[in-house]
Amino acid sequence: MVKICCIGAGYVGGPTMAVIALKCPSIEVIVVDISAARIAAWNSDQLPIYEPGLDEVVKQCRGKNLFFSTDVDKYIREADIIFVSVNTPTKTRGLGAGKAADLTYWESAARMIADVSQSDKIVVEKSTVPVKTAEAIEKILTHNSKGINYQILSNPEFLAEGTAIKDLFNPDRVLIGGRETPEGQKAIQALKNVYANWVPEERIITTNLWSAELSKLAANAFLAQRISSVNAISALCEATGANVAEVAYSVGKDSRIGPKFLNASVGFGGSCFQKDILNLVYICDCNGLPEAANYWKQVIKINDYQKSRFVNRVVACMFNTVSGKKIAILGFAFKKDTGDTRETPAIDVCKGLLGDKAKISIYDPQVTEDQIQRDLAMNKFDWDHPIHLQPMSPTAVKEVTVTWDAYEATKGAHGVCILTEWDEFKTLDYAKIYANMKKPAFIFDGRNVVDPEKLRQIGFIVYSIGKPLDPWLADMPAVA
Ligand code: NAD
Ligand code: UDX
Repeated sequence: MVKICCIGAGYVGGPTMAVIALKCPSIEVIVVDISAARIAAWNSDQLPIYEPGLDEVVKQCRGKNLFFSTDVDKYIREADIIFVSVNTPTKTRGLGAGKAADLTYWESAARMIADVSQSDKIVVEKSTVPVKTAEAIEKILTHNSKGINYQILSNPEFLAEGTAIKDLFNPDRVLIGGRETPEGQKAIQALKNVYANWVPEERIITTNLWSAELSKLAANAFLAQRISSVNAISALCEATGANVAEVAYSVGKDSRIGPKFLNASVGFGGSCFQKDILNLVYICDCNGLPEAANYWKQVIKINDYQKSRFVNRVVACMFNTVSGKKIAILGFAFKKDTGDTRETPAIDVCKGLLGDKAKISIYDPQVTEDQIQRDLAMNKFDWDHPIHLQPMSPTAVKEVTVTWDAYEATKGAHGVCILTEWDEFKTLDYAKIYANMKKPAFIFDGRNVVDPEKLRQIGFIVYSIGKPLDPWLADMPAVA
């Protein structure tokens, strides 16, 4: 029986390994992590992450050929294939701070493998890493090899949160990069054999190591670039009376462009896009390519512009001050169908409004008060370091309240900001919400989930990203 060990039981390690276990009953899969709390949650009825369909997959395999453990050494030692799926956050200090990937966790995983292994291993990079990381890992392993043979493969993960199980069941492609030596090709084949249990062969792409590593960064950069492109157009729509939904639809009908990933929004969030583009920018700079670096940097700049533009709209609309006013926030997760708040635009919007002394009341169906308070208290980039797994610090922001009910959150509010596209926000009783709000009552839709005309008929003043402006806003000076 082939044994797989995955180091890192997070948003990627957990779901990917659960699906491998489900699709490959003859493989034993053990997911290990240094966080005892996370492992305990994976072994309980309350999994540590919310992901549609995940509970069912885990229930079917856990205890049969899928196990979660903190005994990292033991399961590394026993494995034939070791996936490394630890976090690779943006560095917060020292050389490359604010851009380069912090490979501390990756390196410590590699050193653990070197320390405890007693037989040959295939080591698979599942984490998103800078190009040439495989070479660094290879050096750590071979310099400590005790005669053991290691083959390093790059197998980046393309799942998106909220649709992880669907994406894993039916991936657009599986990418495997390896050395072009006979041993490297043999290792690629061994990993291919795992995926071949459910992925059609033509969707399994094999490349050299550096192409695989770079393809992951490039794919995320291209996806994020589409969002920044449509968001840049959304600002122009507001200035000209065009409607971004109509423009995106017309543009996306061109089969060369395609319709996906063209939804204007308050900005992209999530643990990957910003981190991976910053990493790409850093790599371009390090390779003496400042023009290429500046090109990609612009994707982040537009995203920051979009978030601050949204805050400025809210404040400008409400007579240029939100001081002491209650603003309800509907949605805090970075997208629907996840409880993940890493780099969610809601953090920047809330911080912006708090900076103007607003009182904020937040409702999100999947995010706890602890998590929200921790996010608002934390410095940029700290979220992806193990501190995010620690209990909350005592310095909760007192101007922020969190409820489990949208109507409670909006009661007595001057304005409502919709920051996540949860389906339930489409069908709220907005007449009831209007009746319980201060007048004039404002809605700022950062996700284009509500119909502005219907809400205007109720009496709301409505701002929707990239849509023709409410007459109230049209009279206001332009904001940037
Ligand atoms: P995560 O923070 O949810 O999980 C990482 C886990 O690794 C944590 O539980 C941490 O405790 C554990 N860990 C760190 N060092 C360890 C060590 N030495 N030994 C054992 N466990 C250790 O992160 P994630 O979202 O799963 O992302 C993991 C990697 O996958 C990152 O490189 C990320 O860029 C990439 N990725 C993420 C997504 C996504 O949607 N989240 C998608 C594709 C790729
Ligand atoms: C992304 C990539 O899609 C995935 O392939 C990679 O493996 C990890 O990073 P994820 O961050 O989980 O996945 O979600 P994604 O659906 O890409 O959304 C990212 C952000 O962009 C969210 O905040 C989302 O709301 C926003 N978005 C997405 C838009 O604003 N407009 C769009 O049209 C699409």
